[in-house]
Amino acid sequence: MDLSVEIAGLRLENPVLAASGTYGYGTEFEDIVNLASLGAVVTKGLSREPMPGNPSPRLFETSAGMLNSVGLQNIGASAFVRTRLPRLRQLGVTVIANVFGETVDDYVAVIEMLNAGEGIAAYELNASCPNTRCGGMVFGTDRELLGQLVAAAKRVSRRPLIVKLSPNVTSIAEMARAAEGAGADALAVANTFLGMAIDAETRRPRFARVVAGLSGPAIKPLALRMVYETRRAVGLPIIGLGGISTAQDAVEFLLAGASAVAIGTTNFWDPKATENVLGGLRQFCLRHGIASLRTLTGALRLSDEIGGEAER
Ligand SMILES: Cc1cc2nc3c(=O)[nH]c(=O)nc-3n(C[C@H](O)[C@H](O)[C@H](O)COP(=O)(O)O)c2cc1C
Repeated sequence: MDLSVEIAGLRLENPVLAASGTYGYGTEFEDIVNLASLGAVVTKGLSREPMPGNPSPRLFETSAGMLNSVGLQNIGASAFVRTRLPRLRQLGVTVIANVFGETVDDYVAVIEMLNAGEGIAAYELNASCPNTRCGGMVFGTDRELLGQLVAAAKRVSRRPLIVKLSPNVTSIAEMARAAEGAGADALAVANTFLGMAIDAETRRPRFARVVAGLSGPAIKPLALRMVYETRRAVGLPIIGLGGISTAQDAVEFLLAGASAVAIGTTNFWDPKATENVLGGLRQFCLRHGIASLRTLTGALRLSDEIGGEAER
């Protein structure tokens, strides 16, 4: 059985990734999961300088989901290259470095710092974080800005560039086309949805920044729809994510058009979720006599009226 997939010219052993920001730098999970057995590990967002993140509380549990306002706390790109990357290489992990900045220059500087490190397979451009004042979602919700950012990143990148889109837009298809037009090699769909929680007793918002990012099973149908719309809009490979907790969920994302999937919030209650989903995918393929998992991508059965042909 062939579980391998291809994303942005990269051959991954299998389509199961650990999602950015829910898996630390990967090494935090080395005693729990065989990291080398995953398709890839996507690091926490890395910035030019270390970032302290937002004040606590940073997490709030909702019905079937979680709000977070971590605010990109991280050790910075060059510390990552120095202190974490060597261990990840030793462990044989396929590493995707998630890149964050407040300005285009920041993103470019981070990529240049990471270019110097050996053992990174690709970059994932976080153009979609909702938890910072500048950068992130500011880029991911404006076609022009997104195009400028992707083009600038692409110019300096010595590795394939995955662009992580924001779901906080009216048309994910338009944003996907903008990223494709500017040179993205693949897309990740999607980041967290803007949400909010209020403490009725104190009448105060739960988070200092008031709004926060919603993730987990609560967003799965929304993210699935966005993967489907993205697939119809562009020809780029898609990493689908948002609320995936089982192999069944993962198969749904593949059928909707993803070539790979990432597991995020589920890691918080099931740290072995990535391995479990991978095992479940193997079982699914066996049960359905599927020789190559790639054949599932976009294999959603649509009636003729809805239109089997993608509208590019
Ligand atoms: C606590 C937390 C931190 C996150 N940090 C990042 C980040 O640094 N960069 C990024 O691109 N996405 C980040 N994300 C978004 C996730 O990678 C993922 O896109 C989102 O949570 C949806 O997937 P899920 O429902 O499986 O968690 C973060 C999510 C959570 C819950």
